[in-house]
Amino acid sequence: MKRRSFLKALFAVLGTASVSSFAYPLIRYLAPPGSSDMDKKVVLVKADIPVGGSKIILFNDKPVIVINRPGRGFIALSKVCTHLGCLVEYEKDKNRLICPCHAGTYDLEGNVLSGPPPRPLPKVTLKVEGEQLIIG
Ligand code: FES
Repeated sequence: MKRRSFLKALFAVLGTASVSSFAYPLIRYLAPPGSSDMDKKVVLVKADIPVGGSKIILFNDKPVIVINRPGRGFIALSKVCTHLGCLVEYEKDKNRLICPCHAGTYDLEGNVLSGPPPRPLPKVTLKVEGEQLIIG
């Protein structure tokens, strides 16, 4: 292969790779929300979580806890502690979530009550539709 041909082929490959590196994020950005497997909603039956009860689900491959808070209804919160990523546990009798790693505590809105967590637990969208809970 002559030098000129080689350089032409090299620039063609680099040009294609360059266009692809811009095109993929653009296509992902323009795609309608919910079009990927990562955004599939989770549907639960309301009656399966009595007042004060909870259920752990996976949403976008991450653990989420759905709690039926006494007097305040349902909420879905990430179970991943915002400090160093341990999984928080629901303490029903104390109406709070506690992290076993460094004793960070959160209220049932996900707000930090004490300990090292720097941010609240992220909420996950939850809608009550009839007898169902739609998470995501
Ligand atoms: S990882 Fe939860 S308090 Fe440190």
